[in-house]
Amino acid sequence: MLFKHKDIKIAVIGLGYVGLPLVIELAKKFKVYGFDVNKKKVKKLKINIDETGEVDSKYLKKTNAILSYDEKILHNANIFIITVPTGINKKNLPDLRILKKTTRTILKYLKKKSLIIYESTVYPGCTEEICLPILKKNKKIIYNKNFYLGYSPERINPGDKKRNVTNITKIVSGSNQIALNQVKYIYSQIVKSGVYVAPSIKIAEAAKIIENTQRDLNIGLMNELFVFFNKLKIPTKEVLKAAGTKWNFLNFTPGLVGGHCISVDPYYLTNKYKAVNLRPSIILSARKTNDGFHKFIAKKISKITKDYKLSKKKILILGYSFKENCADYRNSRVNNLIKHLRRKKFGLKIHDPYIKKNYDNFPFKNIAVVNMKNHKTRYDLIILAVPHDIYKTNQLKITNLLSKNGYIYDFKSVLKSNDRVIQG
Ligand SMILES: NC(=O)c1ccc[n+]([C@@H]2O[C@H](COP(=O)([O-])OP(=O)(O)OC[C@H]3O[C@@H](n4cnc5c(N)ncnc54)[C@H](O)[C@@H]3O)[C@@H](O)[C@H]2O)c1
Repeated sequence: MLFKHKDIKIAVIGLGYVGLPLVIELAKKFKVYGFDVNKKKVKKLKINIDETGEVDSKYLKKTNAILSYDEKILHNANIFIITVPTGINKKNLPDLRILKKTTRTILKYLKKKSLIIYESTVYPGCTEEICLPILKKNKKIIYNKNFYLGYSPERINPGDKKRNVTNITKIVSGSNQIALNQVKYIYSQIVKSGVYVAPSIKIAEAAKIIENTQRDLNIGLMNELFVFFNKLKIPTKEVLKAAGTKWNFLNFTPGLVGGHCISVDPYYLTNKYKAVNLRPSIILSARKTNDGFHKFIAKKISKITKDYKLSKKKILILGYSFKENCADYRNSRVNNLIKHLRRKKFGLKIHDPYIKKNYDNFPFKNIAVVNMKNHKTRYDLIILAVPHDIYKTNQLKITNLLSKNGYIYDFKSVLKSNDRVIQG
């Protein structure tokens, strides 16, 4: 192994949804430094506030990790774990600027025996083809002789209180056996459910990206079927329930696919297809279906208002984040749904318990984000866009928010059906 336990000093770079929970767990076992360029975020973390809602303040209070927005903190580390964003640009191509920039930052602090572990989601080959050449610019150290690479994709599921960094099997890989042993050792200390050794970095990169691509594809199929069953006037929920009685029918449901993983990662994969002169068809087809699904829902909403003679002005959208029980609203397709409805002159208000403290970048200036405390307005149509638990468990009594002749549109069909709920 590269370092004995007592000599391991880890820097985690990027303290977001992935990096912060990792810092907290690693710091229970190792000396850990957390670095993020976002000064405001680090300042908040230092007063025990995590705006992502993923790490409770009591764990921030307790942690021994040293957090900083000053990159010089990286001087202290011999192992670097990178958890920065890997998004796409307007043309749906991988935007690797942050990953490259972070790698250039690390370059300044590399020393003999350094190990750099990437956790950010990338396409197969990216770590060795894009990041490694940057690190090789330091001529004083030689790859796989006295500096090493690892790749260990993150599989956390924001908003999920059951599955977390300590109980999701972690895929690990290394640039050689020495690196692999060290990567394996580090994660084995914190992941109770164990690590899985991938035979190479490329395999570990590919495994992560196909997990999300498979999910995108399956939801794409459900969305396509949903449109079809709507035309046939049969409820998708009932068809899926019946089909689900077969042992190998997969449990996927239709829905808006947003966020920065499932709606982004397939493009990393398809970009690599192009690099080897292949043309993916079903992956892009599912992407197209999922990217356009909000338009179908918007059309349905228009039709519902006409069929049920509802006012277009008194509509409440429940849920704004990209998925349930989570504060993250980057790439939320509810955003697209709202834009679409506004073009058709719908008057909308939004409720989302997760974004109230955190909507600095909320894009709609003249849409009210309502707080339910003493809320008096009654709505003609309530659209359940993101089925947060508080809506599903009736913690928030949605029916009480309806006007006398109002309806709830529950396109995911998660509520108990009754004559005020329109499903499908
Ligand atoms: N969020 C998820 O559910 C999830 C799950 C699995 C994998 N991933 C992947 O993990 C990676 C990180 O995702 P995330 O959701 O945690 O992102 P995030 O945006 O929540 O956090 C990233 C952090 O990196 C910081 N950062 C940006 N540039 C930096 C730089 N140059 N130096 C230091 N810090 C910098 C940002 O300020 C931010 O706090 C991405 O590749 C993502 O695809 C995310």
